[in-house]
Amino acid sequence: MKELIKKTRTYRKFDSSRPIDDKTLEELIELGRFSGSARNCQPWQYLIVNDREECEKVFPHLGWAGYLTDWKGPDESQRPTAYILCYLNREWLKGTLQEAQFDLGIATQNMLLGATDMGLGGCRIGAFSPKIVEFFPQPEHLELHLVIALGTPAEKVVIEESRGEDIKYWRDEQQVHHVPKRSLAEILLPATKEPV
Ligand SMILES: Cc1cc2nc3c(=O)[nH]c(=O)nc-3n(C[C@H](O)[C@H](O)[C@H](O)COP(=O)(O)O)c2cc1C
Repeated sequence: MKELIKKTRTYRKFDSSRPIDDKTLEELIELGRFSGSARNCQPWQYLIVNDREECEKVFPHLGWAGYLTDWKGPDESQRPTAYILCYLNREWLKGTLQEAQFDLGIATQNMLLGATDMGLGGCRIGAFSPKIVEFFPQPEHLELHLVIALGTPAEKVVIEESRGEDIKYWRDEQQVHHVPKRSLAEILLPATKEPV
């Protein structure tokens, strides 16, 4: 389990010659379907985009790797070959929007774990332009909250312990993508013996 979680990194470069079929994407969505959600309201709905022309429409409206200011996103040979557009259905919401966003986080993590298991990889993208909504008109009660870009990874991503406060991911000269993670000691609060 730990290995699968460690291997499930964010990938932003893919082999654009390797499409992903509907059945595979449905299997990933199926993994999201079993996720927990506040009040079990399962507020999510998904749209598969894997047609080449439609993928080309989506791509320019995605914000890639904000910390890598000199990188504008994957070039044509390294673009994602599929997307899962993640909506929240307002008519199914029982709690707050914040809870529903937690729910979507959990469901998409299950999908990404499944993607790793299948030799695929992806990137959750919150920084998308509202233009995407215009390409795929939906009833008003559906709100696009997240885009998952998917493909066969074509980059090396490693995790490392962060030094000090610097948690910005970076790329070395060999284009290996480094993701600093806070140490266990940093995130584990000391047990309090006395009531505060
Ligand atoms: C809710 C959410 C939104 C994200 N939005 C973006 C995004 O807009 N663009 C991007 O390149 N990466 C995005 N990411 C990916 C994060 O940058 C990535 O998870 C982080 O750098 C840590 O890398 P790791 O996933 O390999 O641990 C997002 C991740 C999450 C969970």
